[in-house]
Amino acid sequence: MSEKILILDFGGQYNQLIARRVRECNVYCEIKSYKTTVEQIREFDPIGIIFTGGPNSVYLESSPHVDPAIFEMGLPILGICYGCQLMAHTLGGRVTEAQEDSAREYGKTQTFFDTTCKLFKGIPAEGITWMSHGDYMAKVPEGFALVGRTDACPNVAIADEKRGFYGVQYHPEVNHTQHGTDMIRNFLYEVCGAKGEWTMGDFCSKAVAQLKETIGPKGRVLLALSGGVDSSVLAALLAEAVGDRLTCVFVDHGCMRKNEGDEVEAAFSKWNVNFVRVNAEERFLSKLAGVEDPQRKRQIIGAEFGYVFLDEAVKFGITKSDFFAQGTIYPDVIESGEGEAAVIKSHHNKLLPKEVIEQFKAVLEPLDHLFKDEIRLLGKELGLPDYLVYRQPFPGPGLAIRILGEVTKEKLDTLREADAIFREEIGKHECRKDCSQYFAVLTNAKSVGVMGDGRTYENTLVLRSVTTSDFMTAEWTRIPYEVLDRVSVRIVNEVPHINRIAYDITSKPPATVEWE
Ligand code: XMP
Repeated sequence: MSEKILILDFGGQYNQLIARRVRECNVYCEIKSYKTTVEQIREFDPIGIIFTGGPNSVYLESSPHVDPAIFEMGLPILGICYGCQLMAHTLGGRVTEAQEDSAREYGKTQTFFDTTCKLFKGIPAEGITWMSHGDYMAKVPEGFALVGRTDACPNVAIADEKRGFYGVQYHPEVNHTQHGTDMIRNFLYEVCGAKGEWTMGDFCSKAVAQLKETIGPKGRVLLALSGGVDSSVLAALLAEAVGDRLTCVFVDHGCMRKNEGDEVEAAFSKWNVNFVRVNAEERFLSKLAGVEDPQRKRQIIGAEFGYVFLDEAVKFGITKSDFFAQGTIYPDVIESGEGEAAVIKSHHNKLLPKEVIEQFKAVLEPLDHLFKDEIRLLGKELGLPDYLVYRQPFPGPGLAIRILGEVTKEKLDTLREADAIFREEIGKHECRKDCSQYFAVLTNAKSVGVMGDGRTYENTLVLRSVTTSDFMTAEWTRIPYEVLDRVSVRIVNEVPHINRIAYDITSKPPATVEWE
C-alpha cells in the first residue's frame, strides 16, 4: 500500500469516523495510538497525519502529548478538536479553559470559512459544523492564519499553509457538519497530494492471495457465520481462496429475529459451500437466565458462542493445522477498546474465550480493517446477491441486547412478533428507503393501560428507526404518522403483553442506534 494516512488517536469517540471518511475518499488509513513514535511513523510512511479529538485538556500535564519532532517530519497535519488544540499548544500558541460560556461550543453551529484556504476549496463560505469543545485557543501559534470562525469564536479553524498544518475545532467527520467530507478530501488531495489508490477490487485480489498463502494447500477453515453482511462476505472471500475446504457454521443462539434462522439456512443452501446449522437456543438461554447487565449479556453470548463452536469443531475433526475465521470488522476492533477511546460496548466478535482460539492454528480476521460500507462493496465485488449485501446490520448478540433487563424465552417471543410487525409495515411503505435500520426494543418499563373494560399492567415497546449510511452517526427517521399508527395498533392488538408503544426520536450522537 503506497499511499497511506496515519490517524493518531487521542481518545475521541468519532475517531473511526475520521478513518471511514478518509477511506471514502479512496485513501487507505490506519488509526494508531498517539504514543506512536516518530521512528514508527517514518516506518509506516504516511503521506499525511490526522490528529483526532479527545476528551482531555491540552494544558494539563497528564493529557496526551506528542513528540514535537513530529512537526519537523515535513508531513502535512490536520488537527481535529483536541488535535487542533494540541497543535496550537505544541507550536507555541496558548490554549485555556473557555472563560465565558459563549466560547464553549457544543452541537450544530453556524460557521464561516475562508475559501481561499486549501482546506475549504470549493465549499460554501458559510455552513453548519458540529462543535464539541470546552477549551479556547487564546493565542494561535506564529505562522498560522485564522481561516474559520463562528459568532462566539474567531478561530475555529487555523492554517499554516506553508508547512501544511491545519486545525479545526469542530468535527468535519460527523455527518452533522456540512461539507465535512469535502474538507477532509481537500486535506488528502489538495494538501497531501493523494491520488486515491484505495479500491475494493484491489483489496479483494490481494486478500485472496494472502489467504491462500496463510492457509496453505491443505488447511481447512471453519467460519463463524451469522448470516449478516460481514460473515456472509467473509464466506464468499474464503470460498474464493480455499473452495470446499471452507465450512460455515451458523450458530442459532435463539435470539434471532422471527424466521431468521430458516432464512439464513435457505440463503446458504442455495450456495455451493459447506453449511452447518446448530440450534443452541437452550444452551444460551440457560446461561442468560437472571442476567440484566448488557455488557455481561454480550460476554456470556460471546463465550457460549465459542464453546458451541468448539463442540462443532470437535465433531468436525478439526486439527491444529486448521483455521478459525470470523467476520470482525474495523469498528468492532476499535469499539472494543483497543484504541484510546472509552469502551462504549464490547462487540461480541472479540469475546471468544482463549481456550477456544487455542484449538486452532490461527484466527483469520481478514476484514478487520474494513468498514461496513467497504464490506458491502467487497460483497458486490465477490458477486454476492443484493439481499445478502444490503441486509440491515443486526448485532451479534441479537435480540438479547434489544431486551432491557433479563432475557427470557417469553420476552424473546413477544419481541420477535412485535419486531416482525414493525418490519412488515415499514417494508410495505415507501418510507422504507429512508429507514437504514429499524427494529423494536422491549423495555422493562411496565405501565397501566386499559383494554376492553379491564385494567392492564404490561410492557412498553420502543420502535427505533435510523437513517444513516455509516451507522456511526445517524438521524432518527421521520416515519409518517400513519405508518407509526398502524404499527402501534397492530402490535397492541396482536402481541400479548404489550400495552404501550413509544417511538425513539434521538439521533446518534448523543444516543446510540441500539438500546441495551
Ligand atoms: P450502536 O448501538 O453502537 O450501533 O450505535 C451501531 C451499529 O452497530 C450494530 N451493533 C453491533 N453489531 N455486534 C455487531 O455485529 C454487536 O455487538 C453490535 N452492537 C451494535 C448496531 O446494530 C448498529 O448497526
